[in-house]
Order: sequence, then structure tokens, then C-alpha cells
Amino acid sequence: MKLKKFPRHSIDFTWRDFLTVLWAAAGGCFAQSRRVQDFEKDFAKMVGVPYAIAIPSCRFGIYHYLKFLDPGHGDEVILPAFTFPAVPAAVRASGMVPVFVDSLSGGFNVDVQRLTEEIRPKTRAILVSHLFGTGCDMERVLEAARAGGLKVIEDCAHATGSVFEKRRAGSWGDVGFFSFGIGKNLSTFGGGMMTTACPETYEHFRCLMAALPETGIPTVIKSAVIARIKAALTNQPGFSFITFPIVRLLAFHDVNWLDRAMVEQFPSDLADETVEFLDDIQGARRYSAPQAALGMRKLSVLDHVNESQAAKAEYYDRKLSPALQFRSSAVGRTGEALSYYVLKSRNRNQLRASLLTYGIDTKACDMANCWPECPISQQLESDLFEIPLSRWMTPADLEYVTRSINEAYERALG
Ligand SMILES: Cc1ncc(COP(=O)(O)O)c(C=O)c1O
Repeated sequence: MKLKKFPRHSIDFTWRDFLTVLWAAAGGCFAQSRRVQDFEKDFAKMVGVPYAIAIPSCRFGIYHYLKFLDPGHGDEVILPAFTFPAVPAAVRASGMVPVFVDSLSGGFNVDVQRLTEEIRPKTRAILVSHLFGTGCDMERVLEAARAGGLKVIEDCAHATGSVFEKRRAGSWGDVGFFSFGIGKNLSTFGGGMMTTACPETYEHFRCLMAALPETGIPTVIKSAVIARIKAALTNQPGFSFITFPIVRLLAFHDVNWLDRAMVEQFPSDLADETVEFLDDIQGARRYSAPQAALGMRKLSVLDHVNESQAAKAEYYDRKLSPALQFRSSAVGRTGEALSYYVLKSRNRNQLRASLLTYGIDTKACDMANCWPECPISQQLESDLFEIPLSRWMTPADLEYVTRSINEAYERALG
């Protein structure tokens, strides 16, 4: 067995990133707000829109944008059933009614045809998520929205820098919301960005941000230290020699134990969910200058990082058993922002347990089916899992992981 083990996800927060944050934090108040503005300008330029505003989180942005639309009684938002549960929580908390649409058969993003069929007089907005960096069919979404006079919200939490049909994620809709949470492809250990071409939306968010309390420097430093520890434990050699033995031990009990422990939990009761969501939003703080300094650094290498990840994903596309994959290699990965590579298997748990014996850690995905009447989405929730994909993986690593997955899959079958 290989000495080197492969993490489900390698947190991208190097010592250099850490020093960038400390350096910016040490700068005190000097030119602090300028840093955030510079990051916003560069981000808007990357996406190809006139305006961007740094926000505390993607969910914060979705919630406040829906409030800004001034929802009337029973107004609806159409959104995917298979998504991160904070997204429907934001919709409900805003006072809008979520109308869920199942995923496209054979894929994970929303079925755009069905989505258009759900448009009714009470519909105010369509919200799409570009899951795992893969774009939705935005031409069709926009066509349907224009016909109905609806707003289009892009949830770009997984798609920072993604390009589809020659346009970046976040430039298609009326607004785009990005997440810079830990584990994202542009991570500043929290925060996010709103992008728009609409001056009124920009102005609204600018005022909202100005009214938020500042994030104290000690809080930023604490978050950076935590992020650095997580990075050490999910990269080499920390993962192979500390984290993996623990993961392995816990998996003897239950292969999903760590997933449950690490994934954000949402209350099943809707009233509790809204209270918790609003509590979280009310505690939000302004995006800080040290985070912006880190964001600028990461933005300058974003395309390079995304290209490197896409090349690795293409290798997986070509070499992994087609039965585990979502699509053929013919589709290509150019332009996708891939922090995650997902596979599907009806024997997910068995396969994941078997992969641990090869030194490969995987993760049951954080996305959930948020509406019981969506069978494809339900199946995705139980079948989908993430495999290692990081910019530090060498060709030999990729070859080993691919071979092991194919072998474990054959064994699970046979
Ligand atoms: C698809 C998707 N949308 C929205 C969010 C929420 O992002 P944030 O944590 O920045 O609110 C996430 C978080 O991981 C996500 O995965």
C-alpha cells in the first residue's frame, strides 16, 4: 500500500497566503477600505460586469436580494431541488415561496425545461446554481425569464471564474452570488461577492455593506490560523500521517461519520430553520481588508488554478469507469472552475469504504435534495460522492487514484 494518502479535499491556504493575511492585518486601518474596493473592481472585471460588492456570504446575498425585490404575499422563486440547503433557507427567510425543480436526468444541475414549465403569475425570480463549476443552460433560462419579466439569480458558489458560452458565471443573470468559504476554488476563509450590471442593485448592496459592523482584526487572524491548521491537515504530509489514520479509524464505525461531523447541519423544522438563518444573517460582519488582500492574490492566479484543475478532471473523464461518471469525455472541461469532482454509485458507501483501503478518502456530497417529490435529486443525494482533486496532485497521483477507483468499483460489482 502507498505511504501517501489522498484527501477528499485539500484546503488551498498556503503559508504564503497566511502571511499575506497577516501582513494586510498588520497594516491596521491604513488604506483598508481601498483594498476591498480594489478587490471588488478586479472581481467585476474578471466576471465582465460593471459592479461587484464583497459580502459576508453567498446566502447573505441571496436573502438580501430577494428582500430587495420586495416580495408580496405568496410570491415565488423557482430553484433547483438539488442544492445546498442554505439556498432554499434564504428564499424562505426572505418571505418568498420556493418552487423546487428536479435535476436533469443523467446530470446534477436543474432541468431547465421543467423549470420553464413552473413559471406562473406569482413567479418573481429564477435561481440557478452552477453546481461543481458546471454551468446551467443560461440562454434558455434567460429566454424564459425575459418572457415572464422575471429576475435571474445565479448561485455561483462553486463557479468562481467558470466560463460557459464565452461568458463568465455571474455575468448572465440580474445578479450573481459567489462564496469564498473554506474549500471553494477562491477561498478567503469566508465571505463572498455579488456581481451585477444594475446600478440600483449595486447601490442597495453598497448601503447594506456600509451599515454592517466591521470584522475585527483578531477575528480575522483567528480565522486565518484555523484555516492554516485545516490546510496543514488536508495537505501532505499532514493528511497522510495525521488525518488519514483518524479517518480510517472512524470509518470502521461508519464511513459517513466524518461527513456528518463536518457538514453544516440545518434544522428539519422550517420555522427553526428560518430563525437560525436570520440569526446567522443578523450576526454578519463586513468583508475585511486582509480577506480582500488574499482574494486579490488568489484572483491573480484563478484562471491558472482553474485550468490546472480542469486538466486533471479531463484525465478522470477519460480514464474512470463511465458507469461512475456523469458525462462523456467528449464534453471537455475548458473554462470550468472545478474544486470538486463528483461520481455516482448506487453502492456508494461500499465503494467509499473500499477506497479507504487504497488510501483514498472521499466525501458524500454536501448538496441535498430539498424537496421530497424530486426523484432524480433524491437519487443524487444518496449516490453522489466527491473524489480527490487538487492542484497539487501529480500525474502519478492521478494515475493511482484512477486505477484504484476503477479496481474498487469492479470489486464492488463482482
Ligand atoms: C451551491 C451552494 N450555494 C450556496 C452556498 C452558500 O454559500 P455561503 O456559505 O457563502 O453562504 C454554498 C455553500 O457551500 C453552496 O455550496
